[in-house]
Amino acid sequence: MRKVVPILMVLVAGITFFGGQVTSAFAESSNAALVQRGKDLYHEQCLRCHNMDGSPSQEGKTMKPFPAKDLRPNHLLPNAELKMIIKYGLYMRAMEAKPLSDSDIDAVIAFLRTMHYKADVAHGKTRFLEVCAICHGNDAKGKANIGTPNLHDSKLSDVEMARIIRMGKHNTPMTPKRDALSNTEIADVIAYFMTLRK
Ligand code: HEC
Ligand code: HEC
Repeated sequence: MRKVVPILMVLVAGITFFGGQVTSAFAESSNAALVQRGKDLYHEQCLRCHNMDGSPSQEGKTMKPFPAKDLRPNHLLPNAELKMIIKYGLYMRAMEAKPLSDSDIDAVIAFLRTMHYKADVAHGKTRFLEVCAICHGNDAKGKANIGTPNLHDSKLSDVEMARIIRMGKHNTPMTPKRDALSNTEIADVIAYFMTLRK
């Protein structure tokens, strides 16, 4: 009996240690499997309008009333929003509801999350000056008569900024800009705003 206890302890420690390694290796391979499944589903369901790297396809660019969006900067959209867009589609847009189960959609999102876009700060500043500066001021410090905040002091996350830029803010002059700027331009403008912060 006296020998059994230490042996048991070694066994338990061993199982905990190696078990942990096996679990994390399993988690990694199952995530890779999820991404692969999402990639296959995307290839099947999305390729007509969105290229494999997330940029809009040739046909996607011709969609009416608005072209397919670039999915590369999808880090600006939370999981829940991506899920709803894929599940229900977008009203009055060529983005239809997709016949995918919730777990299929999770797999597609896991694949979307592997896409990359490197923001162009200089282009962001150019577009800001063209489209936004009339209200936000050339220096992005805001205009009291319009009620625009000083963007150098903004505490908003990139995801919150993207939300406001895409969808606007109720009852303010900040109207939706998701059709005025492309998704990559929204990412560029936000990258520019982030450089203003100390
Ligand atoms: C027939 C063309 C078409 C197909 C197929 C298609 N989409 Fe789209 N998608 C669009 C269009 C057009 C938009 C832009 C809608 C708008 O103006 O807001 C869009 C927008 C989106 C958006 C919103 C992006 C944003 O920033 O607002 C997501 C996410 C998306 N598509 C994912 C997918 C996924 C995932 C699939 C496949 C499961 C898919 N789409 C298949 C045409 C398509
Ligand atoms: C017609 C005037 C107008 C234009 C044009 C405009 N905005 Fe705004 N924007 C506002 C106002 C006003 C607010 C403040 C809304 C509030 O909270 O009362 C605002 C708020 C914002 C905020 C939230 C900032 C914070 O810290 O609360 C962001 C981000 C933003 N705008 C980005 C943009 C971008 C990017 C563009 C150009 C693509 C743009 N705006 C164009 C008027 C405008």
